[in-house]
Amino acid sequence: MSYSNTVNFSNPKEVQWKFAEKLYKEFIKDRPDLPQLLENVDTPTLVIRKDKLQDRYREVIKNFDQFKVYYAVKANDHIEMIKTFAQEGAGFEIASPQELEKVLSVGTPPEKIISSNPVKPLDFIDICLKNDIDRFAVDSFAEVDKIARFKKRARIYVRLAVPNVGSDWPLSRKFGVDVETALEILDYAKEKGLIPYGLTFHVGSQCNNLQNWFVAIKRAKELWDRAATQKGIRLQMLNIGGGIPARYTRESLSVEEIACYIKGLLNKYFNVRTLELQMEPGRGLVAEAGLLVVSVIGKAKRGKENWLYIDSGVFHGLAEALGGIRYSFYTPVGNPKLTFYTIGGISCDSMDVVAQNVALPENLSVGDRIFILTAGAYTTVYASHFNGFPPPKVLLV
Ligand SMILES: Cc1ncc(COP(=O)(O)O)c(C=O)c1O
Repeated sequence: MSYSNTVNFSNPKEVQWKFAEKLYKEFIKDRPDLPQLLENVDTPTLVIRKDKLQDRYREVIKNFDQFKVYYAVKANDHIEMIKTFAQEGAGFEIASPQELEKVLSVGTPPEKIISSNPVKPLDFIDICLKNDIDRFAVDSFAEVDKIARFKKRARIYVRLAVPNVGSDWPLSRKFGVDVETALEILDYAKEKGLIPYGLTFHVGSQCNNLQNWFVAIKRAKELWDRAATQKGIRLQMLNIGGGIPARYTRESLSVEEIACYIKGLLNKYFNVRTLELQMEPGRGLVAEAGLLVVSVIGKAKRGKENWLYIDSGVFHGLAEALGGIRYSFYTPVGNPKLTFYTIGGISCDSMDVVAQNVALPENLSVGDRIFILTAGAYTTVYASHFNGFPPPKVLLV
């Protein structure tokens, strides 16, 4: 029976639980070894299924067939993941000398590496150029000046500000410029001896709102045309950034649906045959391939609130919980009596609260395991050593 036929939608605990169960069953599907592995691995450990990384990458390149795909390494920089994507033929989007070192170590050639963070440290620009990586996003005149210092014919693509409405992890405040400013920046880059190459935008991470892509592509079209007519600049490349969502506590737009929509818009507004198309997905490629195994380390009732404490937390892998990402939690025990918990992290900081109103079995106790689903992206990369606790281990299986 399908998930939707078995859930009593008027019971919020059951809705959560069944969705978590569905994600868990998908995670272990066709891998009879996994349930036991998940029960025995040290905690906290992020378990990543390599075949799911491959499947998702193949789904993306099949649907975005005209695009070059650059995996945004920031989402998860584990070397085995980078190796897996490199073997699939992916390119990489990087932001630091450390990420660069990793992607070079798996034999990635410079033409498969781009850097889209619009504000980069000078030493990073330097090391990129020394390794023949010459494509950089910018969104300020100061950044053009920084790149021009190196007296190389670097290729510049400008970051446009676009709506991030309804994206669970908005990225629009810190970066991006309007069309007018973008035109001036491209012109300035040309004046400084750099090559105005293209444009980029980011609709916000975990984007379930197709309209964000609609506005972004229309804005890109305006910049594209005005660069040619007003500045005599013929851009070559359009980079649509990241934003592909994963399923956390509910269904999300599929890769196929997003690709269909974007390709329709591009066909309407651009001459796609002469266009170089790029994308740089992070979360959408890796999130669902990961499951974080944690242990219950404490249990308490405070007023009316039931608390569970786990050996991970916002400083140890679950930082995105602070910014609005809500995970699914599961433990494979059949049909338990459920209760709502507040989940506290391992550190002593009172900010270290991972989620509220999480439906889990009433009889969970210290030492029991909890599986946190869809944990492959922006988890271990954010983890610190706060309070002396190390980040979760990572295991590719
Ligand atoms: C410049 C850039 N490209 C790509 C990404 C990846 O985005 P996502 O994880 O939403 O696919 C990010 C995320 O922060 C980003 O800043």
